[in-house]
Amino acid sequence: MFTSAGSFEGMWYIFVIIFSLSRVGARYENVNIKQDWWETAVFYQLNTRSFMDSDGDGIGDINGITTRLDYLKELGVDAAWLSPIFKSAMHDFGYDTTDYYTIQPEYGSMEDFEHLLKKANELNIKIVLELVPNHTSNESEWFLKSSNRDEYYSDWFIWESGHLDNMGIRKPPNNWVSVFRKSAWKYMANRDQYYLHQFGESQPDLNYRNPVVVDEIKNVIKFWLEKGVAGLKIPSINYLFEVDKDLYGGRYPDEPITGRPGLGPDDYVYLEHVYTKDQEETYDMVSQLRDVFDGITIRDNLTRIMMTEADTTIKNAVKYYGEGAHLGAHVPFNLGLIGELNKESDARDFKYIIDRWLTYKPLKKPANWMIGNHDKSRVSSRFRPDLVDALNMLILLLPGIAITYMGEEIGMVNGFVPWSETKDPLACNTDDPVNYIEVSRDPVRTPFQWNSGKNGGFSTAERTWLPVADGYESLNVASQRSAVRSHYQVYRTLTNLRIRPAFRLGRYESLSLNNDVFAFKRWYNDDTYIIVMNVGKRDRIVNLTAFDLVFGQLEVEASSVLSSRTYSDNVQANRLDLAVDEALVLRMQV
Ligand code: NOJ
Ligand code: MG
Repeated sequence: MFTSAGSFEGMWYIFVIIFSLSRVGARYENVNIKQDWWETAVFYQLNTRSFMDSDGDGIGDINGITTRLDYLKELGVDAAWLSPIFKSAMHDFGYDTTDYYTIQPEYGSMEDFEHLLKKANELNIKIVLELVPNHTSNESEWFLKSSNRDEYYSDWFIWESGHLDNMGIRKPPNNWVSVFRKSAWKYMANRDQYYLHQFGESQPDLNYRNPVVVDEIKNVIKFWLEKGVAGLKIPSINYLFEVDKDLYGGRYPDEPITGRPGLGPDDYVYLEHVYTKDQEETYDMVSQLRDVFDGITIRDNLTRIMMTEADTTIKNAVKYYGEGAHLGAHVPFNLGLIGELNKESDARDFKYIIDRWLTYKPLKKPANWMIGNHDKSRVSSRFRPDLVDALNMLILLLPGIAITYMGEEIGMVNGFVPWSETKDPLACNTDDPVNYIEVSRDPVRTPFQWNSGKNGGFSTAERTWLPVADGYESLNVASQRSAVRSHYQVYRTLTNLRIRPAFRLGRYESLSLNNDVFAFKRWYNDDTYIIVMNVGKRDRIVNLTAFDLVFGQLEVEASSVLSSRTYSDNVQANRLDLAVDEALVLRMQV
C-alpha cells in the first residue's frame, strides 16, 4: 500500500514538473485567468457629439459611432462609454436631460441605438451609457409639472421660498453657489419659489429625499440595462443629497466662507460645500442603485456595471466601492491623475498620486486609471505632447481598469474656440470674453481628428458644432496609422501587452528613482516588466536594480515615439539613460 501510494505520489510530482516546464515554455499563454469582463477592461470614452458625424449636420451621432466600431476594435478597446445621448435641452450638452427614456434626435433614433448595440455585440465591444441622475433639464416634463405644483411631481425638485430684505427685494433662501458660478437658487414666478441647481440654472436638482424620485431613477436604470447596455456611468454622484433641512429648523443653512483671497460670492470655491456635497445618505443610495444592476446581472448572467464619478477627497472617493455586503459602484472613478498631476509634477508626485489610490481602495477591488476626460485639458496640453506615450503606459499597464478619453490615443491637443463660438455653459457664465478660456471645456471637446481631409474627416458639413482644432492636417488617425512610430502605434502595442498575466493579474511595486524618473514593476511568476519614464526636464541615468530581483539585461517591449530605443533592443538594468519624456516598457530576460 505504502509503496503504491509512494509511486503514485512520485508520478504526480513528475507530472507537476512536466506541467510547469511546459508553462515556462509557453510563458503567459497557459495561465488560466478567471476575471469578469470588466475587471481589467479598457474603456473608451466617446463624446458622441464630437466623434463621427454620419449625416452631415456637423454634429456627431450614433450611426457615426457604429461606422467606427472597427476602429475601437483595432485599438484594443473592450467597452465604449458614450457621453450622454438621452434627450436633452443641450445647454450642457446632454448633462441636462429632458427625457431619460428617449434618444436625443440629432444623435439618432432608438433603432439606430439598437443597431449600434447589435454591431458592438458582434465585435464583442460592450456599450456603457451615461446617466445623469442628480438633475434634469428645466425643460423636462418632470420639472415643468413640478414648477406648476402638479400634485404628483410637486416634490420632485428642491423648492424653497426666499425672503425679502430690508429694501423689500426678493432674496434667495441662502448663500449657496452653483458649480457654474453665481447663486444656486433660481426664482420661478409661477410657483413663487426658488429651485436649487447645483450646476447650471437650466439643471434643477432632483429631490432624493422623495422615494418616488428614487423609484423612477431605478426604473430608468432597469430600462437601459434591459435594452442591453453593459453598464451605466453616473456623474456628479456626490451631489445627490443636500443636508436634511429638518435638522436646521426647516431652513437650509448657509455654507461657511473659505476666506481664500481673491474670491467673490459668485465663485464656487468661495464656500466650503459642507451641506451640498458628500452627504452621508449618498452611500446608501449608491448601494440601492447597485442592487438594480445586480438584479439584472443575476437574471442574465452577464455583469452589468455601475461606474460613478465623484469629485471629492480620497477617503470619500473610495467609499463608493461600498463596504461589506453594502456594495457600491463597480468602478468609482479615480480622478487623481486628472486632477492632481500636471506639467509641474515630478516623479515623486506621480508615485504619490498613483500609490494613494492603491493604498486607500479596498484591497480586493480593482483600481481604475484615467488621464483625460471631457471636462479637463488634454494630456498634450496639460503636460507636453511628448509625454503622451508615458501617460498611456501608466493607465494601460497599472493594475486594474484603463479609461481613455477619445483622442488621447493619438495625443490630440486642446483646440482654440473663440468667445464668439463658445458653447460651454461654464465658460459662457464667466461673461468674460478674455478669461473664459481658463475654464472653458470646449477645447477638449473639438471634433475627433480622423484624417487630413475636410473637418478632419469628422463631418461633411460646412460648419461643425465646434471648430476642428488647428494642426489636424498632420495630427490625425490616418497619418498615425500609416506611420511606423506614432502615439497610436504605441497605444495599440500597450493594449496588446496588457493582456498578459503580469498586467492582468500581476503584482505592482513603484519607485521614484530620482525626482525625474518614475518606474513601476509588474510581475507574475517569472514574467517581470519594468515601466520607466522620465517626467522631468533633463536627461537622467538610472539604475533599475533598485527594484528587488531586477538585474542583467532587459528587453524593450514598447517605447515612446521619440525614444532612441525600439522593440527588442536590450538595455542594462544597472545603467539606463533616459531622455526627457522618454518612456519604456522593459521585460526581464530569463
Ligand atoms: C459632470 C459632467 O462631467 C460635466 O460635464 C457636467 O457639466 C456636470 N456634471 C453637470 O452635469
Ligand atoms: Mg450628425
